[in-house]
Parts: sequence; C-alpha cells; structure tokens
Amino acid sequence: MDVYSENILSGRSAFIAGGTSGINLGIAKRMAQLGARVAVAGRNPDKAAAAAAEIGEGALGRSCDVRDFDATRAVLEDVASAFGGLDIVISGAAGNFMAPAVGISANGFRTVVDIDLNGTFNVFRASYDLLNRPGASLIAITANQAVNATMMQAHACAAKAGINQLLRVLAMEWGPHGVRVNGISPGPIRGTEGMARLAPTDEAVAERAARVPLRRFGEAREVADSAVFLCTDAASYITGTILNCDGGAGLGDSSDKNLVA
Ligand code: COA
Repeated sequence: MDVYSENILSGRSAFIAGGTSGINLGIAKRMAQLGARVAVAGRNPDKAAAAAAEIGEGALGRSCDVRDFDATRAVLEDVASAFGGLDIVISGAAGNFMAPAVGISANGFRTVVDIDLNGTFNVFRASYDLLNRPGASLIAITANQAVNATMMQAHACAAKAGINQLLRVLAMEWGPHGVRVNGISPGPIRGTEGMARLAPTDEAVAERAARVPLRRFGEAREVADSAVFLCTDAASYITGTILNCDGGAGLGDSSDKNLVA
C-alpha cells in the first residue's frame, strides 16, 4: 500500500529545476504520480523533452541554465501561465566534481557556486511573484557538505552551506506571506550522476554503504517521498528546516571498524 493517499497532490503544480535526471527526476515522477501537474527544467532541451515524456502526459519539459536569471524567469513565467501559478518549486540543479582546492581554478570554484547557490537564489527569487499564496512550498536540494567539511569538495561545501543559510532567510522573510521554504539533504542515492562520480566502482559503493548507519544507499523514491511530505498539510507548520534523507550518513562514519568491543 502506498504511504500517501492517491492524488494527494492533485490541483497542485510543481516546477523542478534540475528535474531532467537523478533525484530530481525521481521527485518529478513521484509528484506527477500523486496528482500534481509537473514541469521540469534542465540545461539540455533534448533531455528536458525526454524527461517530460518519461514523467507522462501533461508534464512540461523546458530548458534553461539556472545561472541565467532572465532565462530562468522566462521559463518559470511560461510554466506558471500554463499551470495557473505555482504551488511547489524545487531547486535541484547542481554541479560537482572531486578535486583538491589547489586543483580548482577560480572559474571551477565559481562554476559550482554559480549553479548550486546562485541558481537556487535565481529559481526561488524568480518564482516568488508566480507562487500561489498562501500555501506554496519551496524546497532546495542541499547536501551534507553544507555542514561537514569534506576534502576535495571546497566548492560544493561552500555552495551548499550558502544554500542552507539562504533557505533559512527566505523562510523568515516569506513565511508571513504563506510561503514555506525547506531543504532536503540526500545521502548517497543509488543510480545518480553524483554517486557515479563520488563512488564510481562496485568496491567504492560497498565501502561507502558500510559507513552508513542504515548500511545501504538510498533510493530516489525515498528522497521523493520526503519532498512530497514537505509539500503536504502534514508539514504545514514546518519551514526553514533541512530534512536529512540520508540513512544517517550525515552523522559520520558508522562502519564496524569504529566499534570498540
Ligand atoms: N577538476 C577540476 N576542475 C574542473 C573539473 C575537475 N574534475 N571539472 C571541471 N572543472 C573546471 C573546468 O576546468 C573549468 O575551469 P577552467 O575554465 O578554469 O578550466 C570550470 O570547472 C568550468 O568547467 P566547464 O566544463 O566549462 O563548466 P560547465 O558549466 O560545462 O560544467 C560542471 C559544470 C563542471 C559542474 C560539470 O561537472 C557539470 O556540468 N556537472 C553537472 C552534473 C553534475 O555535476 N551532477 C552531479 C551533481 S551532485
């Protein structure tokens, strides 16, 4: 039996930046399955069209680079006009690579901060006037690097820490207008591009899973269900929070080698 009642999101419209693949596509598919009208946006127009087709009838696929405020606003306006406003906005576009700080150029650092942090500001700021208020729910996809310093991730740590603070400020400023702003921090999720980069071999996957308190990678569906929760009335008094959907991974390395008998 599904944990959510059928059509729990019916009558709601959702825009998912970065929704053309991975965790964000999983969120888009789940929200559509539960009755929402869904639009996804990504940089590549072919991928956006393919994602919309995969999500199903009525889904929209649009292309924009979240680093470009005007292009992002144009896509949001187009989607809001097709859907009659926006109820749910997810900022999930992200870029990452593994490199020590001395291996990152100023442009490499700026690129990741631009996609993740400035992109989140652009998506949320550009959507604000298009939100159906009160009742709108905004979610930023952040990561544990926001709170735990991680070597080879100076750019992502800085960008995600910025996202966490940005969403808290927006929660304070926009709460009085009936807009809730939250974040989700996914742990290692199976089948994502991020994990393909961070754990590229079976051995690396097994080694990483052994460090997670729940001893496995998560599924995109589990992150999607967290996002749905934050958009339902069950979360109507929740704003400015960051929900860790990570099997406890953010708590630290819980592998057996750390247990002293
Ligand atoms: N190590 C060090 N620097 C790197 C790098 C790496 N592995 N990969 C890219 N860079 C640097 C580039 O060298 C460039 O800097 P330079 O001009 O000084 O040489 C800068 O980053 C921008 O690279 P570019 O490829 O032009 O940017 P882009 O906008 O096309 O791509 C990235 C953005 C780099 C984040 C790319 O990895 C990407 O598109 N990722 C999207 C998908 C993704 O990362 N998903 C996982 C999310 S968790």
